[in-house]
Amino acid sequence: MNLQERAGDEGLTHFAFAPPRTTPVIRHLPPLPELLGGRYRLDSLLGVGGMGAVYRARDLLREQYGDPAPQIAIKVLNDDFAEYSDANALLYGEFALTVRLRHPHIVRLYGFEIDHDSERAFITLELLRGPTLDALLCDRPEGLDWTELQEVALPLLDALQFTHANGVLHGDLKPSNVILTDSGLRLFDFGLGQPCEDLLPGLPRLSRGRFNAWTVRYASVELLEEGLLTPAGDLYACACVLYELATGKHPYRRLSAKQARSLQIEPERPAAMPTVAWQVLRKALEIDPARRQQDLGEWRAAWQPTAAAAQPWWQRLLTRST
Ligand SMILES: Nc1ncnc2c1ncn2[C@@H]1O[C@H](COP(=O)(O)OP(=O)(O)O)[C@@H](O)[C@H]1O
Ligand SMILES: [Mg+2]
Repeated sequence: MNLQERAGDEGLTHFAFAPPRTTPVIRHLPPLPELLGGRYRLDSLLGVGGMGAVYRARDLLREQYGDPAPQIAIKVLNDDFAEYSDANALLYGEFALTVRLRHPHIVRLYGFEIDHDSERAFITLELLRGPTLDALLCDRPEGLDWTELQEVALPLLDALQFTHANGVLHGDLKPSNVILTDSGLRLFDFGLGQPCEDLLPGLPRLSRGRFNAWTVRYASVELLEEGLLTPAGDLYACACVLYELATGKHPYRRLSAKQARSLQIEPERPAAMPTVAWQVLRKALEIDPARRQQDLGEWRAAWQPTAAAAQPWWQRLLTRST
């Protein structure tokens, strides 16, 4: 099994390092200190992804001034990445893209800083508490019922529509990058994001030639074959995630879009999904980008509930148990 297949199996982001034009300098970094920037005390590790590690931390300055909620999250790059001399630009790219997206369903970033002693760059951000969609799928292997699914799908579609409307592509939408908190859903991890063509021209662009990255099972065929990130590619990933939530199963048996195309796999219609909603989802799952659903507004309209509940189901559960 090659690296790409293995990454697909584990749902991990896979990085293919194309040879850089000049050899990057590898820095030998000291271990991550417990106190970053003289201000943030790292408490515990919250999660590790393909690229970063996220810690729960306390902002000692806020604490000193009596702030009752000084807890934040801190994202640093994994040691493998942090050791490249230009890795900080990678983290800054994520910061710059996300910080301009102010939306109730997108994670809020606070700042980008460097700890000078350890030479580590880090992002300070909103601490999110709740299950990721990954964890939810482990708890609900048969998937969600239609009303529950709508309550997850609509804020996710809103977050994605807002992201695209603001000139940003997420590039790595998957269950482990979406979380359900007591104050609603949040889309996070724009580490592989990039600005849409001709938008945000002043923003540093990462050379995707060097950091070709994708999560195989959610990557569109154009991303796999040409390294092309497009709004329609984000829609493909979103469709795979929502299909998985509807049925507990990946639409193409956890295979890549390329494999699904050569095997001509036809995703089955989820049992309880209304016809109109399925038609849009099926179109968003099209392997061929020319035939794929392009319009998030239309998708949202087809998935809109008739009468909206005051709070989504997981918030109602959390409120009841506190
Ligand atoms: N703001 C946050 N609050 C709480 N946990 C988080 C936060 N951001 C990320 N995590 C956890 O850390 C994991 C890795 O973070 P992520 O940003 O996805 O890193 P990567 O870019 O390496 O995938 C996530 O899957 C999640 O479990
Ligand atoms: Mg991630």
